[in-house]
Amino acid sequence: MTFAEDKPNMIEFKDVHKYYGDYHALRGINGTIKAGEFFSLLGPSGCGKTTLLRTIAGFEGISSGAVMIDGKNMAGVPANVRPTNMVFQSYAIFPHMTVGENVGFGLRKDPRSKEDKAKAVAEALEMVGLKGYGGRAAHALSGGQRQRVALARALILKPKVLLLDEPLSALDKKMREHMQIELIKLQRQVGITFILVTHDQEEALVMSDRIAVMFEGQIAQLADPETLYRRPATKQVADFIGTMNFVPCDILSDSGGTIEVDAKGLGRVTLSADQVPPAQGVDPVVGLRPETLTLLYDDQKAADREVKGVIDEVIYFGDMTYYDVYLGGTDVEVRLSMRNVPGRPVLDVGTEVRLAWSPTALVLFR
Ligand SMILES: Nc1ncnc2c1ncn2[C@@H]1O[C@H](COP(=O)(O)OP(=O)(O)O)[C@@H](O)[C@H]1O
Ligand SMILES: [Mg+2]
Repeated sequence: MTFAEDKPNMIEFKDVHKYYGDYHALRGINGTIKAGEFFSLLGPSGCGKTTLLRTIAGFEGISSGAVMIDGKNMAGVPANVRPTNMVFQSYAIFPHMTVGENVGFGLRKDPRSKEDKAKAVAEALEMVGLKGYGGRAAHALSGGQRQRVALARALILKPKVLLLDEPLSALDKKMREHMQIELIKLQRQVGITFILVTHDQEEALVMSDRIAVMFEGQIAQLADPETLYRRPATKQVADFIGTMNFVPCDILSDSGGTIEVDAKGLGRVTLSADQVPPAQGVDPVVGLRPETLTLLYDDQKAADREVKGVIDEVIYFGDMTYYDVYLGGTDVEVRLSMRNVPGRPVLDVGTEVRLAWSPTALVLFR
């Protein structure tokens, strides 16, 4: 699952700060993006994703620190000579041109022959699944097709790094999900480094080798999707990625190696070091994901721990049902998810239930 650590660094951020006037938009960004990686910058609106992407492209200067591309410090290197190309949020294609003219636009000063350029355009169109569309009028394209044209126009310049700023956000849900898969395939095929900006955590999880989760101008965690989901480094990351239940707890003992806590409704639990990220100064809670809690039917037994509960809310999703359940006679409510399978009825509000869970699924935030 983790992206090959032996890949060379393509992008390196060294303590990057950026001020807009008094506003501190990037607050000490560190991290590396590997060559050939599909990397995402994920975070809520206004956290600095676009600003960081623009510092790679060279559209935005930095106040201090360094941005390295392919081992070279980019200080003073103008955007047009950097080995990067950007696909924008609002993919501006030229409506009065043909698809082919749009894609070939960046080659207008290229010394290659007309035939060679036409060949390059045809190749780029084929890459994005628009083979044979070169002669069509650009204004007649659908949203998804326009996005492909914008991609082809960027790829034809053979950048080392393709920068994508929320490229799918204007598409409807079905088309967006389709294009996500297309983009993954395209990235594997061309093998160049893709850096995607998105505020959509599902999109980032689906598409990325690794993700930098950003809040307020800082990277809170940089990891592969599975690590972000299973072992979030902060409560804020845990809350932003998927659904996380937080159960208040008391810390009973902390030996460094293991920590013993008493979690409300769950009882005493011993946690290992990998379940305890560095302290953040928050009131102690244990986090657990909805799918790590399982309803026990009839005489089913828990493989590990068991707790009683009462169903407070039922949310039916067709393939899944989400239940909000009060834990063991307390006012702590957790959400759990169950796959709907034949012979397993959806239960009603007010039903007394038994839940299976495992201490290994917990993460402690404190
Ligand atoms: N040119 C600018 N001048 C002043 N403030 C800016 C400028 N561009 C962005 N900002 C501010 O910097 C912060 C980060 O913006 P941005 O990088 O666009 O966030 P994101 O892409 O994560 O939504 C926001 O608070 C935004 O208002
Ligand atoms: Mg943005």
